Formats: sequence, C-alpha cells, structure tokens
Amino acid sequence: MDLCIIGSGYVGLVSGACFAEVGHHVICVDNNPKKIAALKAGQIPIYEPGLEDLVKRNVASHRLKFTGSIEEGVDGSQVVFIAVPTPPQPDGSVDLSYIEKVAREIAGVLKPGQYRVVVDKSTVPVKTGDNVTDTIKRYAKPGVEFDVVSNPEFLREGCAVADLMKPDRVVVGSNSERAINLMKKIYEPFMAPILVTDVNSAELIKHAANSFLALKISYANALSAICEASGADVEKVVDGIGTDKRIGRNFLNAGLGYGGSCFPKDIAAFIAICEQMGTPFTLLKEVQRINRDQKERFLQKLRDALWILKDKKIAVWGLTFKPDTDDVRTSVPVDLVNDLIKEGAHVTAYDPKGMENVREFGLIPDSVKLAKTALEAAEGAEALVLATEWREFKEVDLAALKSAMHTPLVFDGRNLFDPTAMRELGFKYRCIGRPMMETK
Ligand code: UDX
Ligand code: UDX
Repeated sequence: MDLCIIGSGYVGLVSGACFAEVGHHVICVDNNPKKIAALKAGQIPIYEPGLEDLVKRNVASHRLKFTGSIEEGVDGSQVVFIAVPTPPQPDGSVDLSYIEKVAREIAGVLKPGQYRVVVDKSTVPVKTGDNVTDTIKRYAKPGVEFDVVSNPEFLREGCAVADLMKPDRVVVGSNSERAINLMKKIYEPFMAPILVTDVNSAELIKHAANSFLALKISYANALSAICEASGADVEKVVDGIGTDKRIGRNFLNAGLGYGGSCFPKDIAAFIAICEQMGTPFTLLKEVQRINRDQKERFLQKLRDALWILKDKKIAVWGLTFKPDTDDVRTSVPVDLVNDLIKEGAHVTAYDPKGMENVREFGLIPDSVKLAKTALEAAEGAEALVLATEWREFKEVDLAALKSAMHTPLVFDGRNLFDPTAMRELGFKYRCIGRPMMETK
C-alpha cells in the first residue's frame, strides 16, 4: 500500500521505516527542511538501535522516501498518518496546535474523488479525532471523502524497531468499515492481534496504558521507600509480586522515577482531560507525587553521605532518560545534574549517546564537564551517581573505577550493581530500596 507519514521524528520515522520493511511504499514528510535534507542524504537524525540499517535498506529498495511537501505525500497515499509532536502546556494539558495545523494542511490538499484515511498516531487526549474530523471538513473542498482513525503507538525508545515489528497488539479506532479494512491490510504483515474500537476508546487506550505503566513504576518506587525504612529488599519484593501472572514483573523496577518524552507528558495530559471532562483521576496525581519524591529521596541520600554537596566533585554516569537512546528530553538524570549544580557541586558527566543532545539543547550548564569515557568522568570524584542503566556501565572494570575515584562512594539510582560485590570490592554503596551493606 502507499502510505504517508507526516512528522519524521522518533515515532514517524520508525513507523515509516517499519511499514516499508514489510513491503508498503512510504513517503515520510517533515516541515523541518534540515531533517529532510539529512534523511535524503542518508543521515539518520536520531539514535535508535536497528533504525539506520532499516532506513538505508528500504530507501535503496525504493520503498521509503522523504519530502517536505504534505501535498506530495497526501496525493500519492491512500492512508496518511499524523506523527507530529503533542507537547505539554504549563497546566499539563496538551498543545494540539501541530495536530490542528497538519489537519488543516491535509484538508487543503485533499482532492474530491480521492478517498483518504487520516490516521492519528500522535498521543492525543480523547475527543481529538472528532476535532480532527471537524477541522478537515471545515477546510476541505466540497466532495472530499475521508475518514479519521486513531492508531496509537506503543513504541519504547531504545527498542522502537522491535516493538513495531513485533507488536503485542495493534489498536485501530474508527467508526468506518472502509477505513478499518485498509488499516487491517496495513498491519496484516505484522501478524499481531488487531483490536478494533471506536475512535474515543482507542485514544483512551493510549493514555490509560501509559498511565498504568507509570503507576506500576510509582508503586515499585513507593515500595522502595518502605523497604529502605524496614531493611527489606525491593528487588525481592517486586520479584515476589511480579511472578504472580496477574501482576507481571515488567515495569516494576524501582529507580530514580520515570522520565522521557511520553510518561510525564501523558500522565499530566490524562489528568487534565479527565478534569476537563468532570471525572478527576486523582490516583494519577499520587503517581506523579511518588515520582517527584523518588528523585528527592535519592538526593537526600547524597546529602546524608556527603553532608554538604557544595564544592564536592561528583561524577554522573548517564544523561539519557533510559538506556539505548540519545533522548535527553524530560530526563531525570538531567534534572539530577541540574539539582547537583544548584547545590554547588562540581559535576563531570558521561553518557554513551546523550552528550551531544544535552549540549545542543542547552539542558545543563556549561560548567558541567563532559568526559570521553565513564572512567574519565570518575577520575578524582568524591562520589559517583549512576543515573541511567547503560550496559556499558555494568561492564566497567570496577577495580579501575575504585582506584580512579578520590573516595569509592557509589550512588546507584538504577540498582545496576550487585551490593555484595560492591561491598567486597571496598565501595561504600547506596542504591534504591535495598539494605545498606557497609564496607568493613
Ligand atoms: C511523537 C508523537 O507524535 C507524540 O504525540 C508522542 O507522544 C511521542 O512521539 P516524536 O516522534 O517523539 O513525537 O516527536 P519528534 O521526534 O519531535 O518528531 C516530530 C516531527 O514532526 C519533527 O521532525 C518535526 O519537525 C515534525 N513536524 C512538527 C512536522 O513535520 N510538522 C509540524 O507541523 C510539526
Ligand atoms: C513509553 C511506553 O512504554 C511506550 O509504549 C510508548 O507509549 C512511549 O512511551 P518510552 O518513554 O520510550 O516508552 O520508555 P519506557 O521504556 O516506557 O520508559 C519510560 C521511563 O520509565 C524511563 O525513564 C524508564 O527509566 C522508566 N522506567 C521504566 C522505570 O523507572 N522502571 C521500570 O520498571 C520501567
């Protein structure tokens, strides 16, 4: 099938490349001319495992191409996906202006006699599909035929290609049989269960899924607090509850709290839309509070051990919001670095993929030094904070780390290391929700 994706970011580009991989012809549109020029020149603007090969292979086989023109994209494609950003506003509600603008732009190029399916892939609050339909009707020429579908994405950054190629399920929200049949054809090669719903339910599924996952994380983080207070081990507790199939072990990892471009925004947006519709979802406010507190409790551990953070030399490993991505948007590690700087610490950070982006987007002050390697960052440090659980950190030579540091004090925000091994190596080791085992 001929497909168009408007917005060639994390979601749009990965979706476009995966659709091409299963044999569709895909044209990816973006209003950023630099991005389109780079993609046409074979450069991939984001780091996502497997994406570069996928894009190159499908460009070479003429199934994937790029353009700056919505008209070109919509003209040749029966199905048009919208994957533009839906950023948060200060009150937590979603800024839907990019979606609205793209809906108007699509309306402007729709031709009478050409049936088109317009699919919303961006994460949006319930009722957005209705507004997109009304907007297209208002701005399109008379006689234009189209349907609007909600088809939320469930891609995790860092494994987005795998998530799209082997989805647990595909959600298609539409009130039109014709559109549903086309969507089924698109997804047939992925061999995943397709859940067909009305548009509103599909939109709610996305917000409800991400909120539930965030709730699981906050549940584990709240458990980590009581584990610390009682001397229990949160890893054992979540294993113990997670082996119950009704609960499941995934997304029960206690740590520094959730971040990234989706969870914080989506939970705030879900709270906002529920409030707007007169059905407040106060449970989710507690999820947010636990998430905020988790970082605060971690900082307190540093203060407890170092007393005063001012002028302390602190190494931070990890800047991205999770491993295997270069995404530093709404990253807890980045917030942590800024908190340390506010308290007067001298921070040297290292991240395998996120350093360019933190500088480019000005997310940390220039005073934060960026090291070339993990060990270089730790050189002379009075404490090391492990903020993102990159595999590279797990494989570090711990003896070399100990001799590089001024004081072997490690704060593991992701429970990456084995506490017993750390103690045996002579580290003073603090982690999340696990009993403290002091060096003799
Ligand atoms: C997406 C979704 O759209 C968002 O709703 C979801 O919650 C997270 O994933 P993402 O792909 O991460 O966003 O955004 P980004 O990487 O910023 O890419 C969006 C692209 O759309 C950018 O390349 C931008 O240039 C492009 N864009 C933006 C347009 O082409 N047209 C516009 O009007 C606005
Ligand atoms: C999320 C959704 O999982 C995905 O389906 C899609 O809707 C986009 O949003 P993403 O933001 O890429 O994906 O990452 P995810 O793996 O969900 O992690 C989000 C945050 O939660 C990260 O900061 C991660 O460190 C944190 N997390 C995750 C935990 O703290 N503990 C866990 O057990 C799992």
